[in-house]
Amino acid sequence: MPSPLHDAPFLRAARGEQPSHTPVWFMRQAGRSLPEYRRLREGITMLESCMRPDLVVEITLQPVRRYGVDAAIFFSDIVLPLKAVGVDLDIKPGVGPVVAEPVRTLADVAAIPDLTPEHVDFVTESVRTLVGELGATPLIGFAGAPFTVASYLVEGGPSKDHARTKAMMLGAPEVWAALMDKIAGISAAYLEVQIAAGASAVQLFDSWAGALSPSDYAASVMPWSARVLQAVAAHDVPRIHFGVGTGELLGLMGEAGADVVGVDWRVPLADGIARVGGRAVQGNLDPTLVFTPTEVMLARAAEVLRAGEQASGHVFNLGHGVLPDTDPDQLARLTDFVHETSAR
Ligand code: CP3
Repeated sequence: MPSPLHDAPFLRAARGEQPSHTPVWFMRQAGRSLPEYRRLREGITMLESCMRPDLVVEITLQPVRRYGVDAAIFFSDIVLPLKAVGVDLDIKPGVGPVVAEPVRTLADVAAIPDLTPEHVDFVTESVRTLVGELGATPLIGFAGAPFTVASYLVEGGPSKDHARTKAMMLGAPEVWAALMDKIAGISAAYLEVQIAAGASAVQLFDSWAGALSPSDYAASVMPWSARVLQAVAAHDVPRIHFGVGTGELLGLMGEAGADVVGVDWRVPLADGIARVGGRAVQGNLDPTLVFTPTEVMLARAAEVLRAGEQASGHVFNLGHGVLPDTDPDQLARLTDFVHETSAR
């Protein structure tokens, strides 16, 4: 029996089927720029808001209500599963994840517990409630990919060059393998929990993989990302694989086991489509274009939509997340434009 959720435009596009219009959602649509989010978050830390189902549900729904986007993204963070298993970390406003004791040795890796569903009861509860509230709108679950999560654990916080992380990867391969095994297991288990509770797609965020050459990516990162994607392959749930600055890695990121490959704005979408080998693509309007006059933004969005017609499936998105100063009214106009222009 066809169900409205199963045939939602986002899921049809992700499976490479023809949707009634090109679906659109925005990375970081939840949180960040919305005034209703900022009001709700007053006096509540980021980690606390990720662990309270009432807040997770409300924040996840806010952009769906406001924009009528074709998918919701679960409100959480890539380091949340680490926090849940007991890693001492915080998410600092304006900074990002900060880890109290960076991971450097095999003993440090061994001290990180594996994730079981009991660690994240609040995620199961939040996803279940959301799926009920969202009806025919799909919920995207997500996890951090092993390299990007490893960078926070090894550096102890955000990093521009990921120098210590890459030094471990190339200089201490046995520690690196143990760490990647550990994170791949945690990320896979975390995606499983979200799928079991009703998420209808998942996205693996390898935001910082663009720091790597294709050969280093293929040898030292891709096998573990592939393990995470493979772990959830048996579910009828599309898997999106995204990173920033990954123009040279798009083919490999597809081969790692993605159904949809995220393309950032640096790569012309037509080139991205050619590189992902028949897979669906997601992207890729430059997130700064929302700061231009509406007609400039929409003209560029029209180019992205035209390029996307050549893909087996196209999910419209920005090339990376919504920037904090974004005017929500621009995203509303952009959403409407994508829907109207692409209606079939
Ligand atoms: O709409 C959504 O994207 C909702 C949920 C979400 C958050 N983080 C909430 C968040 C998702 C999917 C993420 C993923 C995430 N977290 C990634 C991968 C995606 C990407 O953007 O590339 C990464 C690299 C992180 C790590 C992280 N957490 C960063 C870089 C930051 C930003 C630091 C800052 O404030 O500039 C965070 C904090 C964070 N995660 C916030 C939110 C809403 C801001 C915290 C706040 O509002 O106080």
